[in-house]
Amino acid sequence: MIQTNTSKEETRLDQNRMPFLESLLAERNRWQTSFHMPGHKGRLPLHPMMEDLLGGNPQPADLVEINGILDYLHSPKGALKQSQELAAAAYGADHTFFLINGSTVGNIGAVMSVSSAGQRVIMARASHRSVYSGVVLSGAMPVYIEPEYHPQLGSPLAVRAEVVQQLLNENDHVVAVHITSPNYYGVISDTARIAQITHQQGAVLLVDEAHGSHLNFHEALPESATRLGADMIIQSTHKTQGALTQGSMLHCNDHGLVNLGRVAQVLALLQSSSPSSLLLASLDAARMQMATQGHALLDRVITLAQQARQAIRKIDGLWCYGDELIGTVGVYAYDPTKLIIRTTDAGYTGYEAYDKLRYEHRIDAEFSDLRQVICSVTIGDTEESINKLIKALQAIAAEARPAKQPQAEVAPPAGLPQLVISPREAYFAKSRAVPIQDAVGEVVAENIIPYPPGIPLLVPGEVMEHQHLAYLDYIMKQGSGVVGPEDKSLRKVRVVVQ
Ligand SMILES: Cc1ncc(COP(=O)(O)O)c(C=O)c1O
Repeated sequence: MIQTNTSKEETRLDQNRMPFLESLLAERNRWQTSFHMPGHKGRLPLHPMMEDLLGGNPQPADLVEINGILDYLHSPKGALKQSQELAAAAYGADHTFFLINGSTVGNIGAVMSVSSAGQRVIMARASHRSVYSGVVLSGAMPVYIEPEYHPQLGSPLAVRAEVVQQLLNENDHVVAVHITSPNYYGVISDTARIAQITHQQGAVLLVDEAHGSHLNFHEALPESATRLGADMIIQSTHKTQGALTQGSMLHCNDHGLVNLGRVAQVLALLQSSSPSSLLLASLDAARMQMATQGHALLDRVITLAQQARQAIRKIDGLWCYGDELIGTVGVYAYDPTKLIIRTTDAGYTGYEAYDKLRYEHRIDAEFSDLRQVICSVTIGDTEESINKLIKALQAIAAEARPAKQPQAEVAPPAGLPQLVISPREAYFAKSRAVPIQDAVGEVVAENIIPYPPGIPLLVPGEVMEHQHLAYLDYIMKQGSGVVGPEDKSLRKVRVVVQ
């Protein structure tokens, strides 16, 4: 009896299978005359430029759920249910939800599933804006973990477990802690300890692992939060694996704290009722690839990244960070597939080096900041792409210029702004646009996020002070952009009508 169950389980969890992709292909191959969505009916001529772009016409496979023939994301019962079960097993979780709107919807959905008005959510100030959207929509009051800037990189990297403990001790009604790990730089916090501390207070740990969907597939990489006691883990499968853009996953672990029915309801509220089958099928294929070949593929990725790191360290004027980051400013581990390349000693800001790579060497880095460019090495890389990067960096460094003094930067005001009403109240309150100088002393009703680096200066519900105005004035004069406000020129800011 037990043996029968095991073999059934094994068949069900055969990681070579892609149940949803298989069912989609079968449906595409059936002859059919469509009187249902999508409007292209699988046979509308594509514009030749679109066809060229896509390498063919994807319409025949761009099918929707038809009377239960294809499985449906918001009530999966067949192929999609199996595909999600295979994903949960592969990524190390108890349950997986496929997402068609990126980790953006994963973060919003996770926060909304576990918090509501009158409750508190501890979250890093250096969170992706989707986490802020989550508290606007849930109505929870955020308690921010103040960013701690790394002395050399000049950016906040990790969250310290002691700080989470302190905030949990100081605040009542905390229902969730949200951290980002790894962050954009591939830097990882002590998630296992944070999970323990969070659970001791009966709160839920949400981990934005948008940049870490590959972690569970190789022992030389830091462990995924799915294995470290986190309750909900959000991954952009499209960022570090082969899924199409927007294809992401929300993994849940059963520590008795997350109501899966509620999560499904919230995701149905936030996501399209016509989920793209192409995106979903690409998640199935990405999981199968990682489950069956991930270790071998990542062996190569790690070797390539380490070779690149060593080669870059030998280039005069450049440095590529590695193990020496561990133990500094809360950094527990780092993902070696991220190359954090400091360029200032060669006389270039990170932004300048990024532009040189793009416009002179046809290489697009992941992103840049004042001091470094960051490159992400993935299963899509080859020796050729890595050699091209190293050669380009050698050429850039060879055009020696006097070292850049990173002190030119003005740090954002220390400390956190005063939060007087919840982001939700402020966001939905009656507001008016005032000239930015008149906003001093007022409660802002919109996000003001200097970009880069993307860490909010002010979010709805916070009071603008003179120091914020001076900082915004400085960065706008430096040519930096701001995301969030209606008026991108920042001449006017929306404030709450009191
Ligand atoms: C840390 C982090 N979380 C979440 C997101 C949103 O991910 P997605 O693009 O999959 O919606 C991003 C996007 O860059 C991110 O950097």
